[in-house]
Order: sequence, then C-alpha cells, then structure tokens
Amino acid sequence: MSPSVPSSLAAEDRPNGAVPLRPSSEGNHVLRRETLALDGGLVIDPATKAIAPNISMSVNNILTPGDGAFSAEGVTDLTALPFLYARWTNPTVRQLEQRMAALEGAGDALATATGVAAIAATFLTFLKKGDHLIVSDVCYAGANELARRILPDYGIEVTAVNMSRLGELAAAFRPNTRLVHCESPCNPILRLTDLAKVATLAHRHGALVSVDSTLATPVATRPLALGVDLVIHSLTKFINGHGDALGGIVCGCKDLVEKIRSRAGVYLGATLSAQNAWLVMRGIDTLFPRLRTVSASALRIARFLGDHPRVRSVTYPGLETHPQHDLAKRQMDVFGGLLTFQTENPQMMAVRLASKLRVAHYAFSLGHQRSIVVLLDTAEMMHSTYRLEGAQLADYRAFAGDGVFRLSVGLESVDDLVADLDQALSA
Ligand SMILES: Cc1ncc(COP(=O)(O)O)c(C=O)c1O
Repeated sequence: MSPSVPSSLAAEDRPNGAVPLRPSSEGNHVLRRETLALDGGLVIDPATKAIAPNISMSVNNILTPGDGAFSAEGVTDLTALPFLYARWTNPTVRQLEQRMAALEGAGDALATATGVAAIAATFLTFLKKGDHLIVSDVCYAGANELARRILPDYGIEVTAVNMSRLGELAAAFRPNTRLVHCESPCNPILRLTDLAKVATLAHRHGALVSVDSTLATPVATRPLALGVDLVIHSLTKFINGHGDALGGIVCGCKDLVEKIRSRAGVYLGATLSAQNAWLVMRGIDTLFPRLRTVSASALRIARFLGDHPRVRSVTYPGLETHPQHDLAKRQMDVFGGLLTFQTENPQMMAVRLASKLRVAHYAFSLGHQRSIVVLLDTAEMMHSTYRLEGAQLADYRAFAGDGVFRLSVGLESVDDLVADLDQALSA
C-alpha cells in the first residue's frame, strides 16, 4: 500500500509528488468557478490514480530527514512541514480549504468543526480586551448571542447596528473599532447588506469586515471581490447540502487566515474532522447545480405563496417586492434557496404545517437537499436572542411581522412542493 494521501493545490502542501488533476487555467482561458467547485484543490493520488479524494484519517504524520524539519543541528523548524498533527492541519481538510479558497477567490481558508466555530475563531483572533466590535443587529442567532452576551465578559465592547442603515453604521464607529461583522442575506429575515458600502466605511475607520455568507453561498455572491476582508460559511448548510455533516470555514487573504489559524485555529481546538471535510467536498461537487435548482424553485414557490389566500406576505430577494431587490440584483447572481412567509395565527399554522406537510418537513436548519420549514416567532426571537427595541425592532418587524415561516427549499419537484404547501396551508 502506498502511504501517499496527497490532497492540495498549493505546491508547498503537496507531499509525495502528487500532481493537480488539471492546472487552474489553460493558456488564457481561466477556469470558471463551476469547474473550480469540482477540481479546485483536487489532486490525484499518484499511487492509485483514484479520481475521488482520499480521506486521510491519520492524526499525525511521520517526520523524516530531508522533509524540511531536520538540519545538521537536528530538528529545526516543525512549522516548515505541510502536515504534522491534525489539529493544525490535515491533508483532506487542507484540500477542502483550498477548494473553498478557489471558489471565494481567497488567498487561503481555515476550516472549522462548525460555522459558529469559524465565527468565534474570527472574533477571538481580531478582538481583544478594550476593542470594539460592530455586529449586525440581526444575524444568525448563535453569532449574535456570542457577540452581545459573551464577548462583553472578556472586556470587548459591542454595538449592534442595522447594517442596511449606513448612516447608523457610520455613527457607530469608535477609535477602537476593529471589526464589523455582518450577514447578507441575514438569517432569519432575509434583509440584505450592501457589502461594498460597508467595506468602504469600515476601511475608512481602519476596521476589518467579516461577512457570514452562508445564505448566499459563493454561487450567489463573492464578498471578497466587493472589498470584504473575511468570508465565513456554515458548511453545514448549502455548501455540504445534504444535512449530514457539520462544518465551518473562514476565507480571506493569506495573512489574515494565517493569523486566525495560528491563534484560534490552534487554541480554540474546533478542528474539522477529515470525514466531514470529505463529505463537504462531495457536497461542493454539486453546489452550483443545486443552488441554481433551489433558487429557481424558491422563486416559483415565492410567487405561488404571494397569491395564496392563507399567506399575508412573502419575502424573497428575487421578488420585485423585496425592499432591497435592486441591491439583490447587483450583489447576487442567484437569489438562493431561502424564503420567508407570514400567515394569520402563526402558532396554529405551525401546528398545521407540522402535521399536514407530506413533502416538506417541519424542522430547524436549512440548506439541505430536503425542504424544511419552521416558524420563527418574533416575540420568541426577541426574548431568546435579539432583544431589539424602538427603531431596530420596527425594522425587524417590517420584514418579519409577528413571526416568519422560514422555508429552505430543497431538491424535490417544485410541482410537488407547491401542491404540498397548498394542501397543508389550506387544510
Ligand atoms: C447564517 C448562519 N451562520 C452560521 C450558522 C452556524 O452554523 P453551524 O450550525 O454550522 O455552527 C448558521 C446555522 O444555522 C447559520 O444559519
């Protein structure tokens, strides 16, 4: 058996003479991202010529003289080695990181055990006692709670701002603002953030910008090209897309990712497993066609729900009625698989949907191959997470009223989904 399990694009990370499947460009022809989704970072094992990536489950790697760690004086520089111990880096995880970096147009990426770990790694790297974070007043609940409830315990100042109000964002900067963290579209209300404008403002104040792009995916939006510094994904959602692996990633320029890797990557200890990295890569193989399918289905369902007598309102970035539809057209190549709708008496409707739906499922999470719907009650969200008041609460309610049903559209026949929603809503 050959010991070689090569798995990465960058020459310095390619042990045992592994070669890339294909160069990333042929002459003047630059490969499209659909192609990079399949082979950005993929290398062929020279021993077996296996075309699917190998999984390297090993926790550690043997050190041999001549591989860079040894000199005449003995062991010199362990960090010169591509692979040493799997909490730092692993060949299969490294391949995923390079595939995601290729898709985001990033210099590098760090994969983590979950999406929240990628967010925490970013916060813990760029914020220390006495620093100031500006966070979107509405973003993934775990990120919002981490920022507003936990970080202040460590002496970090935090301000929550509606990022679609740029005047309020501009007013929130302080001399010690180090990071602005936003989301677009934001979970759960699907409000958008103008990433280019936020990045310009933040950079004027010397702050970095991180965006959680989980709902957009690299298929819809490329935040780094808009000036954002760090792009974060919960790989658990659309990127893996099959509801069977947790994972997270943060992508950016080499310097920033190196800072995250050497600080939170090593000491937070939230390393992605090789098995999950492999599953996520298998999901990425079909990311583009999946996102196109769910986006087309979501638009059709959004229009259907908009005309349904039991539905009060629908929010979807691809609908002309979305208050930021123009921004959506500028910033998103596809409008994604998530939509929300409101009904009368949402609590009773939740019970009805949970008992009557036959194709879609009533469950939390999103971005899987199966359609999932869940009620996010506004009062409950305010109590458990956002705690908004005054104008910020009014802005939330403008998108969500008393509560939204968040529908994550899957890969089922759109005709079946429409019929299923119709029978369940009308029952
Ligand atoms: C937008 C967004 N970011 C991050 C996360 C956290 O991801 P994970 O569950 O992988 O930690 C989620 C989870 O729902 C999410 O929706």
